[in-house]
Amino acid sequence: MDKKIDKLKQIIKDKVADERFLHHDWYIKWHLQIVEDICNQVLPLYPEADPELTIAMAWIHDYGKIVAWVENEGKVLANRNQQYQDNYRSEARDLLIELGFETDFANQAMENIKVLDAKVDLDKANIETQIVSSADGCSHFVGLFYKMFWREFPNMPLDKITEDSVRKVDQDWSKVCLPELKETYQIAYEMTKLQLTNKPLNLK
Ligand SMILES: [Fe+2]
Repeated sequence: MDKKIDKLKQIIKDKVADERFLHHDWYIKWHLQIVEDICNQVLPLYPEADPELTIAMAWIHDYGKIVAWVENEGKVLANRNQQYQDNYRSEARDLLIELGFETDFANQAMENIKVLDAKVDLDKANIETQIVSSADGCSHFVGLFYKMFWREFPNMPLDKITEDSVRKVDQDWSKVCLPELKETYQIAYEMTKLQLTNKPLNLK
């Protein structure tokens, strides 16, 4: 991996560290680094995948979310429409080119992120998109991801926080399309859901 990736990581780290971004003190260690680590675990299984493209996507896939939060002075954005997403993807593409990545590489990375954002037919997407989508989904079942909602929205009614979280757990699970990760994280998915419900397990 060359210096361009290191520079990209540093830029994303600096943007995340801005206190106007709600997740500024945990998003690197407890999300983006985990996404990269999972990508690095599965890349050797898929030699046809471009490792540089995969890792660049891992670090830039939440660019819009991070920058939008900072630019809106820390307000939660209710209105994440198509135009908003397209604007931030094109800003991210320009950033990749500025860092010295080829234009084709930057276009491909952001086309892939568009597919990832749409969350439709991910199992038919190209291999880099499948790896990053799957790693993104699995990363939420590792560490503090779901626990941070409780800290960040302490006044939210319990029923709402649990119902919203269960919906998100299922959405995250639908992003996992690689069979190796599905098999490995099945138990983590079920455990995360179990911790958000008052229904006991069925006896075996
Ligand atoms: Fe993510």
